[in-house]
Amino acid sequence: MFELGVCYYPEQWPEHMWQQDAQRMVELGLSWVRVGEFAWSLLEEEEGVFDWAWLDRAVDILGTAGLKVVMCTPSAAPPKWLVDQHPDILPVAADGQVRKFGARRHYCFSSDVYREHAVRIAAEYAKRYGANPFVQAWQIDNEYGDHDTIHSYSENAKKAFQRWLAVRYQTIEALNEAWGTAFWSMKYNRFDQVELPNGLVEEPSPTHLLDYQRFASDEVVRFNRAQVDVVRKYAPGRPVTHNFMGHNVDFDHYKVGDDLDFASWDSYPMGALVHSGMDDQEKARLLRTGMPDQPAFNNDLYRRIGQGRAWIMEQQPGPVNWAEHNQSPHDGMVRLWTWLAFAHGIDVVCYFRWRQSRFAQEQFHAGLLLPNDDADQAYYEVAQVAKEMAVLPSGIADRAPARVALVLDYASRWAAGSLPQGADYSSARNMMNWYQALSARGVDVDIVGPQDDMAAYDLVILPDVILEDGDLAEKLALSKAKIYLSARTGSKTQNMHIPDHLPPGEFARLVNVKVKRVESLPDYCGDHIELDGQNYPVGNWRECIESDEAILARFKSDHRDQSPALVGNDKCWYGAANFSGALLDVLVDKLLLWAGVPAVQLNADVRITQRGELHFAFNFGDRMAEIDVPAEAEILLGQAKVAPRDLVIWRI
Ligand code: GAL
Repeated sequence: MFELGVCYYPEQWPEHMWQQDAQRMVELGLSWVRVGEFAWSLLEEEEGVFDWAWLDRAVDILGTAGLKVVMCTPSAAPPKWLVDQHPDILPVAADGQVRKFGARRHYCFSSDVYREHAVRIAAEYAKRYGANPFVQAWQIDNEYGDHDTIHSYSENAKKAFQRWLAVRYQTIEALNEAWGTAFWSMKYNRFDQVELPNGLVEEPSPTHLLDYQRFASDEVVRFNRAQVDVVRKYAPGRPVTHNFMGHNVDFDHYKVGDDLDFASWDSYPMGALVHSGMDDQEKARLLRTGMPDQPAFNNDLYRRIGQGRAWIMEQQPGPVNWAEHNQSPHDGMVRLWTWLAFAHGIDVVCYFRWRQSRFAQEQFHAGLLLPNDDADQAYYEVAQVAKEMAVLPSGIADRAPARVALVLDYASRWAAGSLPQGADYSSARNMMNWYQALSARGVDVDIVGPQDDMAAYDLVILPDVILEDGDLAEKLALSKAKIYLSARTGSKTQNMHIPDHLPPGEFARLVNVKVKRVESLPDYCGDHIELDGQNYPVGNWRECIESDEAILARFKSDHRDQSPALVGNDKCWYGAANFSGALLDVLVDKLLLWAGVPAVQLNADVRITQRGELHFAFNFGDRMAEIDVPAEAEILLGQAKVAPRDLVIWRI
C-alpha cells in the first residue's frame, strides 16, 4: 500500500467550499484526509453542550467524495471554558510561570482533571464516529512535545512525581542511595519532601533530573494510553496512531509506539536544517533541499516505533512559519521527499495543509493551495507523484530488515543531558553523523531500541548508549553481530553512578576496556588521532583507556601521546573518542569491511535504498548524477542519468 493524503480544517473555511475541496482532493489523487485535532471548542461550546452537526456534514462530504478520514482527538488544544473551570490544568514552565491559554498544548500531563477531560472528549468523538464507515483511522492528540511541553513544573506534576518515586524506590533510603544525597547534604526523610528539579541554585543531582525525565515520559505514555483505550473501545477495528515530532527526544517514543497500531511523524526538513546546529557553510549548501538523511532517518525510526507500520502525517509543502528563517524548498523537493518516504517503508504521506490559512498564527505557512484557491507549487508535485504511483507494481513488499542497526536509547539521551560535561556534545548530531556516513555508502540501516532483538544483524552500532545495560550487553554477546561501542557507552549505571569497575561497565564483557579519564575538548584543540598512518582532528571528546585488546588507532598530541583511540577484538570495537567527519568515514569503511556488509562510494548528493524488489536512487544535488543501474534491471520511473532533485526507480 502507498497512498497520499492531506490535513484539512473544514472549520476554518466557509461550508460552501467543502464540496469542491473534497472533489479536488480526490482529483488530485489523495485518498486520506485528516481532520479534527484543533476543533474542541467548536464542537463542545461548554461542558456537555455539543454541536456535532458541522463535523458530521464535513465527514460526510469528504467520505462521499471517496476520501478516507483520519479523525483526531482534540486534546492538544483544551477550550477556554475548561481552562477557566480548572486553571490548574495549565502547564508551568521551568521558571515557574504558568503557560497560559491563547495558543495550544496548554496542558500539564500530570493533571488528573485534564486527563479525565481528554479521555471524555476522545470518548465522545469515538462514540460519534467510531462506526462511521468514512472514518478509517484515528490520531490521538497532536505532536506530544511540541513547544517544549513534556516538562511541566506544576503542583500536579510535583505530587505525581512524588508518587512515581515512591513506586520506583519503595523506601526513601533507596532514593537517597540512588540520588547520592550524601553529596551536598541533600538527604530526604520522606517522598513528599521531594521537589521538581527546577529553579535550583545549582544543577540538581543528575539522578534527580534523570528520574524526573523518566517520570515525565511515563506521564505521556499514561496520557496517550488512556485515550487509545477509549478510542479502541468505541472505534473497534480502526487503527490508532499519534503524529510524533521527529527531533523530539523528551519522552520514550518506543513506549508510546507500543500502544499504537502504527506510528506517524511530521516531516519539516527545512526547519530541521535551520535548527540542526550544522555550520553555516553546510546549511548554505543544503538551504533549499534540507539534509537528505534527516527525513530518511526519521522514516526509518518511525517504521520501528510503529512496529513496521508508519506514515508521514504532516509533510512540509513549501515554506513553514516557525523556524528562525523560513526558506522555500527548491521546486521538486516535495515530490522527492514523498518518494524518499515511500522508499524507506512509509505507507501514507499526508501533506500539511490543504490550503494556506488567511488568518491566525500560521499565515506564512504554505499549503497545497494558496489562500485564494490557486494551486501552489506542491499541488503540482503531488499531482505528479499521484500519476507516477500508478506505474509501480501493486502490492509492494515492506522493507527487508537491514544488515546494520543503530541503537537509539531515549534514557541515555536524558542521561547525557543531565551531566553534559561538554557544551557542544550532541548525541542527536552524533546519531545523524553515523546514519549519514552509512547512507553515503549505500547501506540501509534499521534504528532499534535497547530492548529489541538484534540477533540477525551483521553490525550493531551503539552511539552514546550511556546507561549501562547488562541485558543489552548479554544480548549483543550472544548475537552473531559485530559490535561498535562509541565513547561514553556504559559510562553511567541506570542510577547515573559511575559503574563499579569503571566504564563501559557491563559492556566490558564485549571488549576489555577500562575508561580512566575523560576530557571534553574545544574545536581549537590540536590533538589528533592516527588511523592507518593518517592524522585526523580529535573531535570534542577524548578518553584515556586501559585495554589489552588490539590497538587500531592512537591519539597523537603532547598529552599522553600514543594512548589508544580505538581498540577491539573480533567481536567488538571500542572508540575512545567522538569520531566525526573524515575520521568517522574511515571508521565506517573499516567497520563495514569487518562485518562483511557491502558498501559503495556514492556521490555526496546521491542516496540509494531498497524496498522489496524496488531500488531507488535519489539525487539531492544540483548537478546531473549518473547512477549505476544494473543492465538486467527494469527501470520503472526516471532514468539512470538522474537530473537534480530527481530520482530513478528500478526493479531486478
Ligand atoms: C506541526 C503541527 C501542525 C502545524 C505545523 C506547521 O508541528 O503539528 O499543527 O502547526 O507544525 O508547520
